[in-house]
Order: sequence, then C-alpha cells, then structure tokens
Amino acid sequence: MEPTSQQETAHSSVLTLHINGTAHTLTLDHRTTVLDVLREHVGLTGAKKGCDHGQCGACTVIVDGRRANSCLLLAAAHNDARITTVEGLADGERLHPVQESFVARDALQCGYCTPGQICSAVGVLTEAAEGHPSYVTSPQHSPGGPADLTPDEIRERMSGNICRCGAYPNIVDAIEEVAP
Ligand code: FES
Repeated sequence: MEPTSQQETAHSSVLTLHINGTAHTLTLDHRTTVLDVLREHVGLTGAKKGCDHGQCGACTVIVDGRRANSCLLLAAAHNDARITTVEGLADGERLHPVQESFVARDALQCGYCTPGQICSAVGVLTEAAEGHPSYVTSPQHSPGGPADLTPDEIRERMSGNICRCGAYPNIVDAIEEVAP
C-alpha cells in the first residue's frame, strides 16, 4: 500500500510489514524498531526485548530470509519486508522441526531466550545449507557447498544468542539433531 500523506507527519510514515504472512500497514514514528512493531503494535510477544542493544539475541527474527536482531532494525528502513517470528514458524498445528527438537531435547530452562534461539537456529540451517562459512569453517570447505554443522560450527554460529540459564549443551544438541 502506498503511504497516504494525510497519515504521515515529519516524524512518522505509513509502512507495510509482512509479518508471518500477513500484511500490517501501520503509521509508525521513524524511531520505532521492528521489535517494538512486533511487540507493541502487532501483539506478537515471542521476540523478547532482552538487552535492546543487539547483544543478547533474544529479539532474533527472520527478515527477508536472514536472521536479524530486531531491536537494531528501524521499521522505517524495512517497508515491505517479510518478517517471520517464532509464532510464524509452525505449519498449523505442526511445529517447525527446530521447535520440535528444542522440545524433545529439553533445550531450555526459563525459556526467555528460546524464541530468539529457535529463529537463530533456523537461520543457521539456511546459512549452512547455502554454504556461508563461519569463523570456524574448515579451510577445506568447498566454496558454495553446504557447511557441515558440527557442534563447534553450531556454537560459533549461535554465539550471538545468549542464554542466561546456560542451556547451551541441549541447545547445541537440538540443532545438531535437525542439521542434515
Ligand atoms: Fe533461560 Fe535461556 S532458557 S535464558
């Protein structure tokens, strides 16, 4: 939808974000983050505001196919973006395989970091399948080929997601379980 000048001010714009497959057209102050859109404007509270500085990963969502810290993204810079939150990963009643694996492996304690961990893990699977190397990827890895998600790779690629409960061993196990 095109912005309508009546609704806009010097400090706000009409923006459309496609969230979990539904278009949301909102008038937003230019300082509004994607995280605040999700939590305060759309009522999706899965993504958490942990540090609000891009350091803990609790706010991780998937934006146009890539994981991102939504607390660092200004909505005004993401008009028309396609955003998937933890609420949008399941297929109807069927959980996403990463969600199932987190449940089966008991990969959480308080659960506060878990939506971000799960969205990040989904991003890791995509990045590895597309052949994006990490800091610990073997030099023998053929460029463009899928990266092998060893426990070291998972730990490195998930290092932006902090768990204050220390559920890391089971988180790594859960991701390893669904890695190809
Ligand atoms: Fe409590 Fe990770 S499960 S912060």
